[in-house]
Amino acid sequence: MKPAAKLAGSRRVAAVARPARVNSVRVQATAAGEFKMMRSGVKEASEESLLTPRFYTTDFEEMEPEKISGPARKIFIEFLERSCTAEFSGFLLYKELGRRLKSINPVVAEIFTLMSRDEARHAGFLNKAMSDFNLALDLGFLTKNRKYTFFKPKFIFYATYLSEKIGYWRYIRHGDFFTAILKAQPQFVNDWQSKLWSRFFCLSVYITMYLNDHQRDAFYSSLGLNTTQFNQHVIIETNNSTARIFPEVPDVEHPDFFKRMDELVALNNKVIALGSSGLPAPLVALARAPLIERMVAGVAQLFFMTPLRTGSVDLEPELKAQVVY
Ligand SMILES: [Fe+2]
Repeated sequence: MKPAAKLAGSRRVAAVARPARVNSVRVQATAAGEFKMMRSGVKEASEESLLTPRFYTTDFEEMEPEKISGPARKIFIEFLERSCTAEFSGFLLYKELGRRLKSINPVVAEIFTLMSRDEARHAGFLNKAMSDFNLALDLGFLTKNRKYTFFKPKFIFYATYLSEKIGYWRYIRHGDFFTAILKAQPQFVNDWQSKLWSRFFCLSVYITMYLNDHQRDAFYSSLGLNTTQFNQHVIIETNNSTARIFPEVPDVEHPDFFKRMDELVALNNKVIALGSSGLPAPLVALARAPLIERMVAGVAQLFFMTPLRTGSVDLEPELKAQVVY
């Protein structure tokens, strides 16, 4: 398959960019004054800290390519065609809704237009996947020649709701892909070291996001979100999914968990406030030291909270009795 073939081809590539969007951010002219610029219209990347997104590299040699052939090939192509047509059908419907609702409800219309753009991209990706087999669908031709089924609006809502939801569970997303990779490599998740590392990575990711987002409270408030509620929701849901594959995860619904996370935010705020206090650098460092020490202790406390014993029931059937998923 293409992605694996690409991996094999990129053995000599030193680093993968993740996420790609931090590469070079196009900045509106109005914002130019507030940012350090590399050249006109190109923002200089902000300085790296413990909390900024990183670029990653790994041992690419460890990953091996695979190919689809034989009878699976035909079934796979048909699957791509059905999926591509389904995505494209969403594109056509949402686009029309966006167009018709424009004068009545411009906000809802714009959301439909954006959703239609997403669906067009999905259809495009699938058509591109078909081109790996030297095949393609003529989507313009389909638009004009395929039969359209009429549903009353109420039933369009029922049908699209279910189609979006069922698609959500049917199709693999990036996270699910890594679940599959880990399931195929049980040695990555089935020893005591994996348990420690799983907890460590969960906590690092949750803490980084929690501190980062609380530093930018104004941004989330401007979107009408409550930063704390939003972050807690994301962490609880992420932890629930992660629990289906990682052998241990932190118990984020324990009443002490977010109490401790909020203590870290309070300490972090003090550390930041000292940075902009105008005090001489040695004094700032001196005042920060006990705060940083308390933050390290706080992180350690979180790490040593009793974790949840979790993992995939496919790999560890004995978990079935205790896990409800
Ligand atoms: Fe889609």
